[in-house]
Amino acid sequence: MSLESKIKVLEEKHKQAELGGGKKRIERQHKAGRKTARERILTLLDPDTFVEIDKFVTHTATDFNMQENKILGDGVVTGYGKIDGRLMYVFAQDFTVFGGSLSRANANKIIKIMDLAMKMGAPVIGLNDSGGARIQEGVESLAGYADIFYRNVRASGVIPQISAILGPCAGGAVYSPAITDFIMMVKETSYMFVTGPDVIKTVTHEEVTKEELGGAMTHNKKSGVAHFTAEDEEQALMMLRELMGFLPLNNMEDPPIKVTGDDPKRIDKKLDEIIPSDPNKPYDMKEIIHSVVDNSHFLEVQPHYAQNIIVGFARLNGRSVGIVANQPQVLAGVLDIDSSTKAARFVRFCDAFNIPIITFEDVPGFLPGTTQEFGGIIKHGAKLLYAYAEATVPKITVITRKAYGGAYDVMASKHIGTDINYAYPMAEIAVMGPEGAVNIIFRNLSPEERKVKVQEYRDNFASPYKAAEVGYIDEIIYPRNTRKKLIEALEMTQTKSESNPPKKHGNIPL
Ligand code: HXC
Repeated sequence: MSLESKIKVLEEKHKQAELGGGKKRIERQHKAGRKTARERILTLLDPDTFVEIDKFVTHTATDFNMQENKILGDGVVTGYGKIDGRLMYVFAQDFTVFGGSLSRANANKIIKIMDLAMKMGAPVIGLNDSGGARIQEGVESLAGYADIFYRNVRASGVIPQISAILGPCAGGAVYSPAITDFIMMVKETSYMFVTGPDVIKTVTHEEVTKEELGGAMTHNKKSGVAHFTAEDEEQALMMLRELMGFLPLNNMEDPPIKVTGDDPKRIDKKLDEIIPSDPNKPYDMKEIIHSVVDNSHFLEVQPHYAQNIIVGFARLNGRSVGIVANQPQVLAGVLDIDSSTKAARFVRFCDAFNIPIITFEDVPGFLPGTTQEFGGIIKHGAKLLYAYAEATVPKITVITRKAYGGAYDVMASKHIGTDINYAYPMAEIAVMGPEGAVNIIFRNLSPEERKVKVQEYRDNFASPYKAAEVGYIDEIIYPRNTRKKLIEALEMTQTKSESNPPKKHGNIPL
C-alpha cells in the first residue's frame, strides 16, 4: 500500500468514527433537542483544546452476532482538553451507538481517562447519555460498571468529578453519576432512573411518565439527586464551565483566584435595614449573599431542593468560597432532614477541595413533628453537625438573626471549630425563642405575667451580647460592613493549617 493510501485509510477511519451510529441516528438525536457526544465536548471545552483518545476502539463481543456490528469508538468519546486554560478529562457517551450503552471496551475507555485524571490530578467531567449496561455483553458490561464505580469512589475527594445527564440514563448509567460530586440535568431531554416506567408498571402497577419519574425537575426538586437544572444543553455545558471556575483541579491545590474588580472594602448601607424589626417576619437571605459577594455572582447549588437552606459558590476578593445560609423566607429557615443532608454534602465537598465555608445563620431550630422524627431527623441533622465539625478549611460564620437551640451549635458555631464568628446586633442566641422558653420555665404564671416574662427574656437573652461576653462571638458587626469583615477574616485564615486525628475514615451517620 502506498503512503498516500495509508493516509487515506486513516482519514477514512476518522470519518467513520466521527459518524458514530450514522446520519439517521444523529438526526434523531438532533430532533430530540440533543447534541451528539462530540458536539457536546466541543461546546464544553475551550476551542481547539480537545484531544481524543481511543477513537478506533471497538467491542470484542460475539454473542448475538455482535462481531458483525462494530462501530469505531464503541459508543463513548473520551479524551482531555481545557476549560479556561485548565486541564480537564472528559468522556461523552454516544447515544447513536447502541444507545450509549456500556460495553467492556467502552468501560475500558472511561477507565483509562479516569486513571489518567487521577495521575495528573485533574477533574473528570462525564457527559452521560446511555441506556445502561450493554445487554448483549452481559456480565462483561456489569464488570465494566463496577470498575468505573470503584474508581469513582477512589477519586472521590481527590479530583472533582462532575456529571451531566443529557439523555435517558438508566440502570448502571445513573450510579456512577450518583457517586460524583455534582449532577447537572437538562429540562425535558434528560432522565435518570434505576428502572424505567415500563418495569415500574409491571412490578408495582404504577403508571408514571419518564418526565415525572426521572426528569430534571424530579431530581432537582423532589429527590435531591441532581444539583443543577438547565433549560437546554448549551446552557448546561456553560454552567459546567462556570462551576469548574470555582474549583481547584485536585485536593492538593487551592481554588483559582480570579480578579473580579469588586472593592473588598465596599460597604452596603441597605444591609443595616434588611432584618425586619419583627423577629417573626421573613426576609430574603439571598439579598445579603448577593450584596456581599464579588459582583453579586452566586452560583447556587440545588436551588430547587430544600429551599430552607441555601448553598452555593461565590468569590470574596477573588477567592472561591462555599456559602451555606438558612433561608428565613422558606419554613422560617428551619433545619429539617432535607436541608441538613443538602448542606452536609456541600460542606464536605468544600472541605475536601480547600474551599473556605461562609455560613449565614438565621435558624429557629430543628423542625418538630412526627414526620421528621420518624424520618430520622436525629441522624440526618447529625450529618450537618458532623460535616461542619470535621471540616478543617477556614470557617467563618455570621449570625444575622436567630441562632436557637441545637441549630446554634450545628450551624458552624465557635465550639465546632469555626475560626471567626460574627453576629449582627439583631442576633438572638439562646436555647429557644422567648415564648417557648417562658412557657416552659414559667408554666404556672398567668398569661399576663407570662407576657412580662417574655419581654424580660427577649431583652436579656434574645441578643448576641451574652455570647459575645464569653467569647463565643468574636465581634458584633454592622451589617453594612459584612463584605469587608468577611474578606478580612478570609485573609486572616488563609494560612490555616489544621488536620483531623489520623484514622482510616470517620463514621458519618448515614
Ligand atoms: C444495548 C441498547 C441499550 C442497552 C438502548 N439500546 N439501550 N443497546 N444495550 N442497554 C439501543 C436500542 O436497541 C436502540 O438501538 C438504540 O439504543 C436507541 O434505543 P431506543 O430504545 O430506540 O431509544 P429511546 O426510545 O430513546 O429509549 C431509550 C431508553 C431505552 C429509555 C434508554 O432504550 C431503554 O429502556 N433501554 C434499556 C434500559 C435498560 O434497562 N438498561 C439496562 C439496565 S441494567 P438501534 O439499533 O435501534 O438504534 C444495568 C445494570 C447495571 O444497567 C447495574 C449496575 C448497578
